[in-house]
Amino acid sequence: MLPLSGNSSPAEHHPKKFKSSELFDKKNAFNSLLHQFHHQQSRLWLLLVILCLQILLLFTIRFLPLPLPPALSSSTDRLRRFPSVAVVSSTANDADECRNGRIFVYDLPTAFNKDILENCDNLNPWSSSCRAMANGGFGQRADSLAGIIPENLLPSWYWTDQFVTEIIFHNRIMKHKCRVSEPGLATAFYIPFYAGLAVGKFLWTNSTVEDRDQHCRMILKWLSDQEHYKKSNGWDHFITMGRITWDFRRSKDKDWGSECIYLPGMRNITRLLIERNPWDYFDVGVPYPTGFHPRGQNDVTAWQDFVRTRRRTHLFCFAGATRAAFGNDFRAVLLDQCRNSTAEKCRVVDCAGSRCTNGTTAILETFLSSDFCLQPRGDSFTRRSIFDCMIAGAIPVFFWRRTAYYQYEWFLPSEPESYSVFIDRNAVKNGTASIEAVLERFSREEVREMRERVIESIPKLVYGTGGVRDAFDVAVDGVLRRFKEQNEWGYKWK
Ligand SMILES: *[C@@H]1O[C@H](CO)[C@@H](O)[C@H](O)[C@H]1NC(C)=O
Ligand SMILES: *[C@@H]1O[C@H](CO)[C@@H](O)[C@H](O)[C@H]1NC(C)=O
Ligand SMILES: *[C@@H]1O[C@H](CO)[C@@H](O)[C@H](O)[C@H]1NC(C)=O
Ligand SMILES: *[C@@H]1O[C@H](CO)[C@@H](O)[C@H](O)[C@H]1NC(C)=O
Ligand SMILES: *[C@@H]1O[C@H](CO)[C@@H](O)[C@H](O)[C@H]1NC(C)=O
Repeated sequence: MLPLSGNSSPAEHHPKKFKSSELFDKKNAFNSLLHQFHHQQSRLWLLLVILCLQILLLFTIRFLPLPLPPALSSSTDRLRRFPSVAVVSSTANDADECRNGRIFVYDLPTAFNKDILENCDNLNPWSSSCRAMANGGFGQRADSLAGIIPENLLPSWYWTDQFVTEIIFHNRIMKHKCRVSEPGLATAFYIPFYAGLAVGKFLWTNSTVEDRDQHCRMILKWLSDQEHYKKSNGWDHFITMGRITWDFRRSKDKDWGSECIYLPGMRNITRLLIERNPWDYFDVGVPYPTGFHPRGQNDVTAWQDFVRTRRRTHLFCFAGATRAAFGNDFRAVLLDQCRNSTAEKCRVVDCAGSRCTNGTTAILETFLSSDFCLQPRGDSFTRRSIFDCMIAGAIPVFFWRRTAYYQYEWFLPSEPESYSVFIDRNAVKNGTASIEAVLERFSREEVREMRERVIESIPKLVYGTGGVRDAFDVAVDGVLRRFKEQNEWGYKWK
């Protein structure tokens, strides 16, 4: 039952447990928002004080007959020297590419990554994940897409599991052009711990909280002995956690998930997650992995041309499970509207049961032949389907802002209306908004323009093999930029 191609979210298997932990989390998130606000204010004051001091200093220096005081000149000197120290053995071009910093990747004990992967038979309670974890986390080759997609692109398509970003990021970062083997030269420290894969098998079983937290406690203990972690309190450290943030935010023993993110040592570590808590600065949302892993620019261009010139026979589509367990489920309303659309303008892929779990042929075909795709929230706000939809060149229709706009800011166009449609879910629920009518109102030209924004974004939404600037590169560049700014601005709070 591992959702191989799943557009169902992980938590869909245990809605009740998840709900309560999420509710609790909203309170927590609010507290952390207040907290951040408070500290942003004190940072502002600090900045002002520093500014005043500097003006005063400059003013005094002007009237001094002496040359610059030695303390001042040496500190500016150190700043200037810094970049040249870091480049030691690289070319000038390389130095420019790494102007935002250099990365040290910890060589962790194998219990934190390699052993977990080798235990792939045992990562979930239902079946082996070994086939899904193969090929560097991409999974099995998607040979059954032959005839649906251009033949020369078949080798870049796999049946990729949605929870494999930890493996993908680890493999790629080992080959990163700004990786250094000397920690003293680094400005960023990557922790290749497979937090999500480690906890996966405990989520649905009657496991103890000790089971669920064990790996995370171990890594934090290991980190607490590391010189560079101690030096920064974790501010220049980052990690990939391949599940949604709520799987790591258990606040009470009886709730869902591990409490990894709430453990003290985790506090200042930047975390790359497929769904973030929008009110936590240290949570960064990264795209869910899809099946497309371009080998280079040629693959990307060929794919973009393919989806741009598709004949799309349906106005919109909906792929997802409608769960009987939820009486008043919004998804049931959407399914109803889809089925009732005139002249079959909407195409449904009903993923009830496990029908969508073993390959996305039907889903991909549906997205490829639709102009729009409906993206309601499930039990969590995000779903892999957003990305399956967009890489197929379909325009996403959202009903919650947290489904994408507050999640993947580094990866999506900054103006939501340029590439997506937002529909008020309450108007859909009370029957005053017809999705078909809303979507019909867009002219062919408007649809073409929105689709073009979607197609332009494709490289940033996929995980390739390194030949093209993809989601991995955007994420790592973003983290390096953040760390650099933190240093320049003293951007830290308690
Ligand atoms: C889960 O385990 C605990 C303690 O081991 C036990 O008290 C409880 O009854 C178990 N629950 C289920 C549903 O098996
Ligand atoms: C869809 O059609 C069914 C039966 O034809 C009807 O009962 C239902 O109210 C319709 N739903 C909508 C949203 O129009
Ligand atoms: C997927 O599973 C269904 C039954 O659950 C089966 O009929 C179908 O052939 C499978 N497809 C693939 C590609 O394995
Ligand atoms: C339906 O919901 C929309 C949006 O919340 C609201 O503006 C409208 O007044 C509602 N209409 C009815 C009849 O309840
Ligand atoms: C997080 O960073 C703040 C500010 O640098 C520091 O005071 C705090 O102790 C750090 N927390 C942990 C758990 O390291």
